[in-house]
Amino acid sequence: MMTHRYVMGTILSAMMATAACSSSSNSDSNEEPLTYWQNVAPIVNAKCVGCHQQGGIAPFALDTYDAVKARAAGIDGATQAGHMPPFLMTHDGSCGDIERDEALTPAELATLHRWASSDKNEGTPVEIPRTPAPVLDHATEYRTPNFVPRADPANPLASRDEYRCFGFRPGGTGTRYITGYHAIPGNPAIVHHAALYVVDPNGASYVAGKTNGQVVQALDDAGTDRDGWPCFGAAGDGVRFESSPAVWVPGQNVVDYPDGFGAPVRPDDLLVLQIHYNLPASGQSPPPDSTNLRLRYQDHVDREVLFRSPDPLLDSLFRPQGPDTLPPGKREHPYSRELARSDLDFTDDQPAVEILGIMPHMHELGRKFELTLHQAGGTGKDECIAHIDQWNFHWQRFYWYKTRPKLTADTIAKLTCVFDTSGKREPVSPGWGTENEMCLGMLMIAKP
Ligand code: HEC
Repeated sequence: MMTHRYVMGTILSAMMATAACSSSSNSDSNEEPLTYWQNVAPIVNAKCVGCHQQGGIAPFALDTYDAVKARAAGIDGATQAGHMPPFLMTHDGSCGDIERDEALTPAELATLHRWASSDKNEGTPVEIPRTPAPVLDHATEYRTPNFVPRADPANPLASRDEYRCFGFRPGGTGTRYITGYHAIPGNPAIVHHAALYVVDPNGASYVAGKTNGQVVQALDDAGTDRDGWPCFGAAGDGVRFESSPAVWVPGQNVVDYPDGFGAPVRPDDLLVLQIHYNLPASGQSPPPDSTNLRLRYQDHVDREVLFRSPDPLLDSLFRPQGPDTLPPGKREHPYSRELARSDLDFTDDQPAVEILGIMPHMHELGRKFELTLHQAGGTGKDECIAHIDQWNFHWQRFYWYKTRPKLTADTIAKLTCVFDTSGKREPVSPGWGTENEMCLGMLMIAKP
């Protein structure tokens, strides 16, 4: 199936063409010629200029008539194909009630197409409020040291990758709540992701008789004089974390939690930033990275959030009978698993919980992603809550729900990732390396 938007665009443009024909043979045309200022600029300004401006994350600006006119064909192509604006999640109502203000509506898509296929008239300039590039106000900054990653080629689960953790003291006095974040990698060419974990250094770790603080100290001491400590598993082997309130992946900008929600951090917690570095295939040492993490704290929130990151493919690594692997040579290999709510670390006596948002994650072989919910005791009808038809590793983000799906003790979640292994000769194993695969849906959940 092609993307909904592509099909929609094609149908709409066919309809437009018909309309244009009939109007030329009909004097009372309701097809006024479109102009940049009256029709196109309001759309581009609202949905493109936040990134496409000087200092924005896109490589060129789209904030003047000349710039938009010069790129009209590219704009038409990218919007019809659904690449731009980058919004991978299906949002036509067929799956999940997703907050979609940042995507184009079918009418906007049709307007852009009709203008780009016409004389591209300018119209009469009008004042249009400028969309600023997103910024996170009142943020506290943390920065990782200049670091040059090194991989261990002998590790089949991450032969070109290093996972390194860096610790920070959050500061502040009482408990505060993270309500938004913005991570800016210093060398984005090698940062595959950055994930923040909140750790209680005095709390019990997974290592018998040791606190988290002692385990982190031991990991740090065991290393060389390089900064940080190794940490494939979250904040480090044996370290138990309380939450994972921030994650940066390629394509992600400022993240604002839904209004009124926040993730608690106490002054004596340890903030652990895990960075997954992916090294160049050339084997050459890359320029160093120093990642800047900006957190916005508030003293009070209405409700706390918690995070769950189900990944049945990655979790299969820890099964005694050995991991699931993806067979080579398949253009569309669906990997699907069912998870009970208890698999997400909820007990059956807990009330229904609401999902606030989801961030799907796969690596470079990922093609499609879907999450459906099935109420075991209910109607038996499946509720699709997330669907991506054209996965793109470079555009990952949180998608928020307008109507929040609920997980009850009876909910069975079915997670499906479709992979393209046609270029592979050997089975692909799950793992942390960019060469390995994951099938993960990170969920932000309102704490019951
Ligand atoms: C979240 C930031 C962001 C938004 C919003 C965004 N772009 Fe882009 N755009 C980029 C970046 C970054 C690139 C270059 C990398 C790439 O092509 O993926 C790009 C590339 C493009 C390209 C050239 C490559 C291609 O895919 O054809 C076009 C054309 C484009 N954008 C048009 C638009 C239009 C039109 C909109 C609004 C309807 C828009 N963009 C919204 C960030 C953005």
